[in-house]
Amino acid sequence: MYLKNCRLPGVLFAAVFFGASGRSFGNDAATVKLFESECSTCHGKDGKGKTSMGRKKNVEDWTDGDRLSKVTDDEMKAILEKGIKDKDGNVTMKPPKKVQAGQFDALIKYSRSLSRGK
Ligand code: HEC
Repeated sequence: MYLKNCRLPGVLFAAVFFGASGRSFGNDAATVKLFESECSTCHGKDGKGKTSMGRKKNVEDWTDGDRLSKVTDDEMKAILEKGIKDKDGNVTMKPPKKVQAGQFDALIKYSRSLSRGK
């Protein structure tokens, strides 16, 4: 009885989670797709930021050295939750609307994998 009650939320969670985004861990197709739809307009599919929007916003080239190693996972999560403001308080990167908290880790991992592929 106890177990039965306990399992339900897990099953629901899995259904919602996997249903919404496919396999969500690692550099799987769903993560790549999410990155390409939510991030690549500015950061580029290759993480170089050489898109017209990226140039306009002065995004850093993630493949230039190991740039993302200077940003911790927690900082990256905060960016995904709250976006980024410059020192004058202007929003330079809005928090991505379609990215859910459960997808942060996979996105961060994927971003880092772009960074390493110099
Ligand atoms: C509207 C353009 C835009 C979009 C879309 C965007 N970013 Fe950014 N992002 C920026 C800007 C501008 C900065 C700050 C400048 C910089 O340092 O590159 C930034 C910085 C970052 C940083 C900090 C590291 C760094 O380069 O300084 C991370 C990590 C990051 N973005 C991840 C993401 C992820 C993941 C997504 C997709 C969910 C995303 N961004 C979507 C514009 C964008």
